Formats: sequence, structure tokens, C-alpha cells
Amino acid sequence: MPSTSFDIKKLVRPNILKLEPYRCARDDYSEGILLDANENSYGPAFQTTIVDDSIQGNYDAQNLHRYPDPLGREVKQRILKLRPGVPGIENVFLGVGSDEVIDLLVRITCQPGKDAMLITPPTYGMYKVVANINDVGVVRVPLTTDGGSFQLDVDATIEAAVGNPAIKIIWLCSPGNPTGTYLREADVRRILESAFSGLVVIDEAYVDFVEPSKGSSYARLVAEYPNVFVMQTMSKSFGLAGIRLGVGIGCADMVYYLNNAKAPYNVSTLSLDVAKQALSDGNVQKMLAVVGSLRQQRDQYLIPELRKLPHFGQILGGNDANFVLCRFVDSNGVASNEIAKGVYAEMAENRGCVVRYRGSDLGCAGCLRITVGTEEENRTVIATMRDLLSAIP
Ligand SMILES: Cc1ncc(COP(=O)(O)O)c(C=O)c1O
Repeated sequence: MPSTSFDIKKLVRPNILKLEPYRCARDDYSEGILLDANENSYGPAFQTTIVDDSIQGNYDAQNLHRYPDPLGREVKQRILKLRPGVPGIENVFLGVGSDEVIDLLVRITCQPGKDAMLITPPTYGMYKVVANINDVGVVRVPLTTDGGSFQLDVDATIEAAVGNPAIKIIWLCSPGNPTGTYLREADVRRILESAFSGLVVIDEAYVDFVEPSKGSSYARLVAEYPNVFVMQTMSKSFGLAGIRLGVGIGCADMVYYLNNAKAPYNVSTLSLDVAKQALSDGNVQKMLAVVGSLRQQRDQYLIPELRKLPHFGQILGGNDANFVLCRFVDSNGVASNEIAKGVYAEMAENRGCVVRYRGSDLGCAGCLRITVGTEEENRTVIATMRDLLSAIP
């Protein structure tokens, strides 16, 4: 049963509810002689074919003198095919990476100096950065860290959120970063059905790496709950971090207010065109094949090889993403930030291999987060780590 305490008119800031958004003729008309937006009808002043191997072919940039579709409607249509159960394009928002979506969600719901958000550490660092930029408070309810499982402490999360009316957003991350853990559906539903009156955001940047037998995207929950907002990105499974395209999926009202608050043409034509190509049926199949190879490298090479390293302690988290969270221990078997940090710095500074030190995150003492790379990269990273760790007593 959806939460009865959610009322979007109470959640969204009064100035945003009243906002008269910037309107352009292109919201409604995009064909014919276009003399509405002070573009340059002569076109770009140089040869506009961009040859770019990263998008596998020639990109014909003939429309770059025109502003992009302010709502990216063609891309949204393809998102609907990718994520079954999302009712329509009015439920989909496009931002300049998920990072822009995070910022906009905070700006339209949280009053600076007054409101707050709830995060479940260890989690993605941008939620807190955006809170700090916007002068929004942060309440922490840690994930359960026993055994490195990193699941939600549902009771504590609900209690903290319901007990503090300043909290406007609960940030969940599934699979989590840096935990790699896909959150249990029953837990997510309990939070959505609780008496919390704010928005529950589920950041699914890594969702395509989850084994289908284990679970799927929570975007489908949008059809059931007005208070859920799911974020996805082209940066990970699609391998398109450079185009900066983030996707938000939520109730139509929330998407409406986000659209009103965003810059009119936030996502570029180049990004929209590449995303549209990436989301064709054939290219989604290619994405799934790459995801399959990365999962295989993760499960059949990286994790087994990490386990064999000197000072290996434990693999933490659920391994549901394209990275592995690995703990290193000292000669007494105690998690060692010194070892993890030392190996991290030596690898980056002298061995040309950059991984991420996560030892200061809650429940992640002694941990490095290692992204699954190509076969060759993974072999190099393991050999380098073996070399460095063998030299530590
Ligand atoms: C959990 C999570 N959310 C969002 C992002 C940012 O994604 P984007 O590239 O779409 O801004 C990242 C990037 O690492 C991430 O780990």
C-alpha cells in the first residue's frame, strides 16, 4: 500500500510550486522555418562531421546550430522500452549526469538552512556534497555492516525519517557505492509504505550489473508509489560517462517540477543523439553482452585472484556492481588502513594503476574499491597488488 502521508504539494518548495518556468517555442514546435530561438540558420561555421571511434562511426553533426529538444523526448521513449513498467515519458527526467539530478532534487525540495536529508552510509559521496552546497542538513542511518552485508537498517531508517519533519529526502543506493549491494525489495517497499512524508530516492547507477536472478530495477515501482524516485545513468553499463546523461524516473508531478527548475536546454544534442543510438534494441543487446563480460571478469577472475593476495582480508558487499570492495589486513588479521592506503598510493604514484581508497568509509576499514576493467587491466592490477603486498611483512 502506498504511503498515505506523501503529498507532493507539501514536499516541493513553495517557490518551485509557484515557479513560472522558462518557456521556449521549441517546447511545442520543432519543425519548419525555425526563427524562434536566435540560432544561426547558416549552421556551424566549420565542417561538421565528427569522426569519433568511441561512438563507433561518423557522427553527422548537421543539427548543431539548433538547440536540442528541451525534453529529450526520443531518448525518453527508448528509456521506456529499457525499463518495463514505467508508465510514460512524463515519468522520465533527463539531466546532465545523475549528479545534476541529485542537485535538482535537493534544490526543489529542501529549503537551505532549514531542511535535511537522510543518507545510509557507506554511500555515494555526492549526496552529502550537494547537501553541503545547498546548506541542507544530513542525518545518517548506517547500513548494517555486520559481515560486510550492507543492507538497510529499515526500522532505524523509518524511525529517524518519520521522527524528523525537516527530512525531505531519503537517499538509497542500489546497488550501493561503495558497497556493491543490491537492496532487498521488501526493505525498499517498507520504507516506501512507511509514514515518512518525503521522497525516497533510489540511485540505480549500477543496476544493470545485478544478476537478473537476484533482482531488477526498481523503476517499475513508480507505477505503484508516488513517493519513489529512481535515478539511473548512461555512465556505467552503457560505457558513456563522457556524454553526461542521467535519468530520473518518478511520478509525473515530480518530473514536471524538475523540468520547470532545470536549465531550458540542459542536455546537449550530442548527448541526446549518442544516448538514442545506445538505446536502440541492437545496442542494448551489446550493452548486456559487455555487462556479462564484466560480471564474468568480476566473479571468475578478479574476486578469486584478490582472495589469493597476501594481506587479503575479506570481500565486502554484494558484488552486484562493476567493482569489488576488498579489505586488507595486517599480520594479526586486523583491517589495516595503513596497508590499503599505502598500496593505493604506491599503485597510483609509481605503477600507473589507480584504484580507490575507501578505508575511511563507515564499515570499510582497510578497503580498496577496485573497478572491474578489461581482462588485461585486471591482470595488471592483480600482479601489481601482489607485488606490493608481498613486500609488506
Ligand atoms: C551511486 C552513483 N550515483 C551516481 C553517480 C554519478 O553518475 P553520473 O555519471 O550519471 O553523474 C555515480 C558515479 O560514480 C555513482 O556511483
